[in-house]
Formats: sequence, structure tokens, C-alpha cells
Amino acid sequence: MSDNRPPFVVAHRGSSAALPEHTLAAYELALHEGADGLECDVRLTRDGVLVCVHDRTIERTSDGTGVISEMTLAELKEFNFGTADKPAEVLTLSELLTLTLDWKSRATKVFIETKHPVRYGALVETKLLAELQRFGLASPASADMSRAVVMSFAATAVWRIRRSAPMLPTVLLGETALYLTGGAAHTVGATAIGPGVAVLRDHPDLVDKAAAAGRATYCWTVDDRTDVDYCAELGVSWIATNHPARTKTWLGQSV
Ligand code: G3P
Ligand code: CA
Repeated sequence: MSDNRPPFVVAHRGSSAALPEHTLAAYELALHEGADGLECDVRLTRDGVLVCVHDRTIERTSDGTGVISEMTLAELKEFNFGTADKPAEVLTLSELLTLTLDWKSRATKVFIETKHPVRYGALVETKLLAELQRFGLASPASADMSRAVVMSFAATAVWRIRRSAPMLPTVLLGETALYLTGGAAHTVGATAIGPGVAVLRDHPDLVDKAAAAGRATYCWTVDDRTDVDYCAELGVSWIATNHPARTKTWLGQSV
């Protein structure tokens, strides 16, 4: 399969099976492994900085404790998000965007997921758009050309992005087929739907239905070979995986 054909491989939280998730090292490895996209979750600190962390708290992914929305970036930087051997500070979205844009081997995209409900509500999308503007990424010439994609399970979050930055591609993530086909993606103008792989196994028709409506499909989190092959056969555009290197190999794509 050519590198110019889907499915494109998105490194979920970086190359996160190999290295601690959402760390600079995990994303650097993903780039070296030939990932076409880098997925991250973003949350706002108390002083208004977007950091790449999945959970509401830092217990699972660092040696610290606390709620991100109640901590400043300086406070978060006190904790180790890496390993004892290779410590790592919390990664900011700004650092991840810089890393991605500095990577010249491939026009890798960043898939940025906003979590909801959260303390700061719509301010997350406001800050995200400001950050994308600062990097010159908020008004791409086309969705295909865009280096940034914004995703959320919250339709309102997708709508906020579409309203303010209509050229930015968006993914409406969903836990059920009904949510994704029930009109929400159309109402908010999402350019893609984002089913989990279990949903797609039960509802393979989602991909063709989305395509008929002009939408791509982004599927997560696709770590098994049978699921990778299944997504490729269905015509899924983007697959998010914790194992970008072996997924590229399975698909016969070069690094
Ligand atoms: O890429 C989408 C996927 O990451 C959604 O689930 O919980 O891993 O953020 P979660
Ligand atoms: Ca995510």
C-alpha cells in the first residue's frame, strides 16, 4: 500500500506503548516511526496554559497528585511525567506544535482532543484557537492541507471550532453509532466521525455512510492486527494506535 493512501497512522498519545504517554519523548519516537499524525488530549491549567494530559488529575501519569485545572504550569512542572531513568516535564500544546512543525520529513498532523465537561468550559476552545492562530494553523487552505485537526466527544466543542475557524477539520468522537449517525456530526459540521474500534466492528456501514455525507472516518484505538486490516478494508481514513511503528509495517507503509 502506498504512503499516500489511507489509512493514515496516528500515534495515540505519542508512541505510548513504548514510552510514557503524552511526553515529548513519546512524540519524538512516533515521528521517527513514521506516524502521519500525533494525537493528544488537552486541558487548561489554572493560569490558562494548554497542557497535553488525558486525565483530570495527574496521579496516573506522574509522580505527583492534584487536579490540573487547579494547578499552574509552574506547579505542574514540579512533577515527573516520564520515568525514573528519563524524567519528563508535563508537555504543553505549544511544545508539541513546535516539535511537529519542526519535523521536516513528513507533514505530520496534530489531532487535538478537547475534553468535556471541564471547569473552564468553552474557554478551552477559545485558548486552543488562539494557540493555533499563533502558530499559523487556524486557517488552512483546505481541510486536507491542515496540519491541525480538532476533536471532541462534545458536539458543542466541535461546533465552537467550526463556527470560529470553518476551515479547520474536526472529528466528532462518539461511543455509539447512533450518536455519530443521528445527525450530530451534520448539525455541528464535523468533517469526520470518530468511532471507537468496537463500535466500528458492530457497525461497519458507518464508514460508507460518513463518506456519502462527505465525511472521513477516524477510528481509535486500533492496536490489534485484525483491527488494522479491518479498518484498511473498510476505507477508514485515520487510525489512532499506541503502536505506530508496527502498524505502519502491517500496512506495508514506509517510515
Ligand atoms: O483518539 C480518540 C481517543 O483518544 C478517545 O479516547 O479516552 O483515549 O481520549 P481517549
Ligand atoms: Ca484522546
